Amino acid sequence: MPHIDRRGFLVGGLAAAAIWRPLGLARAENFKADPFSLGVASGAPRPDSVVLWTRLILEGGSAATSADPFAPAPKPVAGPVDVEWMVAEDGMFSKPVRSGLFRAVPEFAHSVHVEVKGLQPGRWYFYRFRSGNATSPVGRTRTAPESADAFRFAFASCQQYEQGYYSAYGDMAEKDLDLVVHLGDYIYERSYGAELVRRHGAGVPSMLYEYRDRYALYKSDPRLQAAHAAFPWLAVWDDHEVINNYANDRAPDAPDPATFLARRRAAYQAWFEHMPVSPDLAAGFDALRIYDHYRFGRLLGLTLLDTRQYRSPQPEGPAGDDRPERTMLGPAQEDWLARTLGASGETWNVIAQQTLLSERDTKAGPEAGYNLDGWDGYRAARTRLLDTVQSSSVRNPLVIGGDLHAFYAADVKRDFTDEKAGPIASEFVCGSITSDAPSGKSLATALAENPHLKFASDRHGYAIMHLGERSAGVDFVGIADRKQQDSPAAVFQSFAVADGAAGVNRL
Ligand SMILES: [Fe+2]
Repeated sequence: MPHIDRRGFLVGGLAAAAIWRPLGLARAENFKADPFSLGVASGAPRPDSVVLWTRLILEGGSAATSADPFAPAPKPVAGPVDVEWMVAEDGMFSKPVRSGLFRAVPEFAHSVHVEVKGLQPGRWYFYRFRSGNATSPVGRTRTAPESADAFRFAFASCQQYEQGYYSAYGDMAEKDLDLVVHLGDYIYERSYGAELVRRHGAGVPSMLYEYRDRYALYKSDPRLQAAHAAFPWLAVWDDHEVINNYANDRAPDAPDPATFLARRRAAYQAWFEHMPVSPDLAAGFDALRIYDHYRFGRLLGLTLLDTRQYRSPQPEGPAGDDRPERTMLGPAQEDWLARTLGASGETWNVIAQQTLLSERDTKAGPEAGYNLDGWDGYRAARTRLLDTVQSSSVRNPLVIGGDLHAFYAADVKRDFTDEKAGPIASEFVCGSITSDAPSGKSLATALAENPHLKFASDRHGYAIMHLGERSAGVDFVGIADRKQQDSPAAVFQSFAVADGAAGVNRL
């Protein structure tokens, strides 16, 4: 528990980290409204550390910072606030293990990112925050194991707020999981679709404060908060965290790269401020390295990829563009991936990216059509990725993705046109939490045109991957009706992958 050190500062816990500040210099007040209304979260689980997150919503609002000099502060700005954090072995906090102070500042929207170190591997911990008269909800998190014979994680994507309720997260929060992986489209920048069940109440964000408000709206949802409070998360973005179909420094309706990059910087900062990610990312938002590798004992290596920040523009014309200089990951991330996969000694190796890696001809009959915003628009880059998977001899590669608002299971092939060739990896794409799905007819066409696609569904929900020493399993979880609150959820399709035998087996 916190204690007074010899200089008279309330410091708490054990070794003081650089982020600690003496209490008493910032506000510690009687809040009239709960400042912890966005809930709590944790993430980046390592064997000895985890990141704790919250963001205080204060009367007086948050600052529009110098990240966008043209953004007017919409409200008066609240000053810094000191927040106490506590980690314990139990939910009653009778066995505290770490605590400390973090100064939440308006420049980062009063977000709190604490990397708690010195923890034990493979252990559940409980955490909460306190400031003035306010105490946050209790969150639960789990460090990465040093050794494990089983591991379970959920993966999810695409949660357009207006198009449905987060029943899927209510269900996920009740599950027995070690981790949640979010594959992007955590927010949407704009409204679309019909039969909207709730509204953004604002237009398309371009300013920092507008992106912050959009995240705050999404994170006000109690079911999303419950899923964050129940498990540690790993998150990577896709396009809608900035704007639809952007590619590096270009966006379809933002032709000037300099203007677009200022907006991207604001969106990246808002993403950081609302995700349980390392405080080190606050160093700058012109670029944000979010690709990373996590290890869960010898059982699982999990590689998170970023397919937005470094990619070439989408090709023009229906056939795509095979020029080798075109890239999806960028050269630095490609090199890092080759080194990471080459060094992997884990039994199962999940490659978490944003969309469907496998080829998908969307046109019935001899004519071909492709989604050029996906890997089909970046064929040379995909071939390089598959070459890396093959040449690294990485064991049991399992590709996961989102983006398509449909569930898919696929055999990943080195050459998708070679029907006799065996799979080199297994792929699973989760359906959307809420975002509008494609037609059942289009999915039937995709299955008919692409023999390596083994399953497709237009349902909404998420997926669970469970790993054991001999086999991996994937459950697709569907909710009955995204337009209903607390709609029931159930596993509607399961798959197995055997150790040493790439390819999906439908159960
Ligand atoms: Fe999406």
